[in-house]
Amino acid sequence: MSTIHNSNGLRGEIAIPGDKSISHRAVMFGSLSDGLTEVTNFLQGADCLSTIDCFRKMGVEIENTPGKILIHGKGLHGLSAPSSVLDTGNSGTTTRLISGILAAQPFETTLTGDASIQKRPMRRIMEPLSMMGADITSINGNDCAPLRIRGSALHGIHYHSKVASAQVKSAILLAGLYADGETKVTEPVISRNHSEIMLRCFGAEVKTEGTTAGIRPQPHLTGQQVHVPGDISSAAYFIAAGLCIPHSELLIKNVGINPTRDGILKVALAMGGDITILNENREGEPTADLLVKSSRLHGITIQGDIIPTLIDELPIINIMAAAAEGTTIIKDAAELKVKESNRIDVMVENLTAMGADITGTEDGMIIEGGKPLYGAIVDSHLDHRIAMSFAVAALLAEGETTIKGRDCVNISFPSFYEDIKTLSQS
Ligand code: S3P
Repeated sequence: MSTIHNSNGLRGEIAIPGDKSISHRAVMFGSLSDGLTEVTNFLQGADCLSTIDCFRKMGVEIENTPGKILIHGKGLHGLSAPSSVLDTGNSGTTTRLISGILAAQPFETTLTGDASIQKRPMRRIMEPLSMMGADITSINGNDCAPLRIRGSALHGIHYHSKVASAQVKSAILLAGLYADGETKVTEPVISRNHSEIMLRCFGAEVKTEGTTAGIRPQPHLTGQQVHVPGDISSAAYFIAAGLCIPHSELLIKNVGINPTRDGILKVALAMGGDITILNENREGEPTADLLVKSSRLHGITIQGDIIPTLIDELPIINIMAAAAEGTTIIKDAAELKVKESNRIDVMVENLTAMGADITGTEDGMIIEGGKPLYGAIVDSHLDHRIAMSFAVAALLAEGETTIKGRDCVNISFPSFYEDIKTLSQS
């Protein structure tokens, strides 16, 4: 187990690896299309490789070449029955989105994943898919994976989701490609809209109005060229490090700034962060370069509609709040309890171990910032976003920090520690 020390500042330029959500979708939609899909800047993280593995097991030829993924699509009706269980690893996106596809295939599948996946709630997709006519059961009867899915004829529904979840919305829209009429999903607050944007590019008829997305059954999708922007969720660790560590100046290149994902930028600016948005490109999935400089941050309240736009960034926002002056209050974020770990409990456990003043609440946390952080042994609970958040905390802390299970960063950001090291030295 290696340790991380206090940093004198991060300086230089970094290109962030491809967006995880968009990489998953490119493989899925490419597999269901006619013809070739070429994906550049694909995220070579364990989660997205799980998606590739699942589609290969259903007969799709996917070439993972340097710089490019080539997907030889099978068409909407061309998948074949896998000869073994589909293993989604640690990936909630793979598990939930693929369930929407499997619900309509003319074969039976069993879907499972690692210990974390087997604890994550699947009722949220089982309920709407069953309403569409799907035959989907939790094998252990606990509403979690492993799931058995027997493909059936589906019909369109209008589903009102209790949670703002792109995984739920996308599972329903994908099932809707195969349904006998229009399918609609209304969410309490809009969640990330990558499926809607990309499905349209592949030729699907997707309509959106407010927090409702609708899809019509589709005879076929057509293979595309997809360039995946850098993942703002991965950029978030460098945004936080650049702002919080004195003497830092970072140029973070080609980051996806889709408004359904950019809450971290709004929060960082509201906390007093010095961030300049450069080279903005608003075509398709919007992107920009971010110039981040060390800043004196102050606490704020984060709640309501912004929460789904930064849900994965709340662990690193906790670290920013611990480094800021004053109080940060996070509300309406009960979803944190059902991510790769219970991120309310785990942030409280680890930040407390480092000397911060943090209290967990039913739907978030309260952080009294400005207390000095000390190196400690912290536990990632094998949650990649926890490991990366505490690597940044370690750069801010006095003394030495050890992160248990540090290698789980491979889920979404395999070069993370190398990149931190490079920027620390420049
Ligand atoms: C994702 C949606 C979000 C997010 C996850 C990726 C996606 O989950 O937390 O990391 O790619 O659709 P929920 O849909 O559960 O909010």
